[in-house]
Amino acid sequence: MYANAPNDKPWTVPMLAEAKRDGRKLAMLTAYDTGFARVFDENGIELILVGDSLGMVAQGHNSTLPVTVEDIAYHTTCVARGLKRALLIADMPFGADATPERALAASIRFLQAGATMVKLEGAGHKLETIRFLVEREIPVCGHLGLTPQSVLRLGGYKVQGREDTAAMKLREDARLVEEAGATLMVLECVPSPLAAMVTAASTIPTIGIGAGPGCDGQVLVLHDLLGLNTGHRRPKFVKDFLAEGGSVAGAARAFGDAVRSGAFPDAEHSYA
Ligand code: KIV
Repeated sequence: MYANAPNDKPWTVPMLAEAKRDGRKLAMLTAYDTGFARVFDENGIELILVGDSLGMVAQGHNSTLPVTVEDIAYHTTCVARGLKRALLIADMPFGADATPERALAASIRFLQAGATMVKLEGAGHKLETIRFLVEREIPVCGHLGLTPQSVLRLGGYKVQGREDTAAMKLREDARLVEEAGATLMVLECVPSPLAAMVTAASTIPTIGIGAGPGCDGQVLVLHDLLGLNTGHRRPKFVKDFLAEGGSVAGAARAFGDAVRSGAFPDAEHSYA
């Protein structure tokens, strides 16, 4: 069942780099409670993210901005109780990483709640924060491309890196995020060729969402995996795996299999 987990061992941070080296793709799903986390864990999903998408899919907000450190800590505790093998990542909510010290305080909460890694959006001044956390033994996942916490500045949820200068900046930011010490990197809503270039240039695994098949892994939000209507516009990269899998467990297995075989995402679920 755990086709991608050597000896069924729990996933650790060093195993991520090994997976990239061996060319094994990684499947990540978001979860916010014990029940879904357990099903995903039992069906071979390697990475579980308590995403701040929580704000949009579970709390009913129009953006991720209202999500708090308390929210992520609480849901991380719930999700951690359902996991035996998957590596748990907690999302840094908006403002919690405004300074390295605040990010450290939030990260300690998340690791004490059961997370193994924290994810934070962006580069720029966040590079100092990534370095600060990594030096203090907090594993970090970067997040580049469409960073939903930038929605007010961006004016909406749009594909990033289409123009040459933006593409060059994204490639340089990815290099800097890795150099700062991140051990995993989410690429969101990026044209497939650009995401493939970033992936080829990095030694840490990239996890795509709307970033094409060239990434080292893929992530979907739980509600999107199950084809639920969240009240928000359905992005192109979303695929309903419940239709294919027939049950929540089947959907998780179908998603994991499609990621590992390279069948998902296809061109229909990617940006050229
Ligand atoms: O918050 C979230 O669920 C995320 C994923 C979409 C990567 O950041």
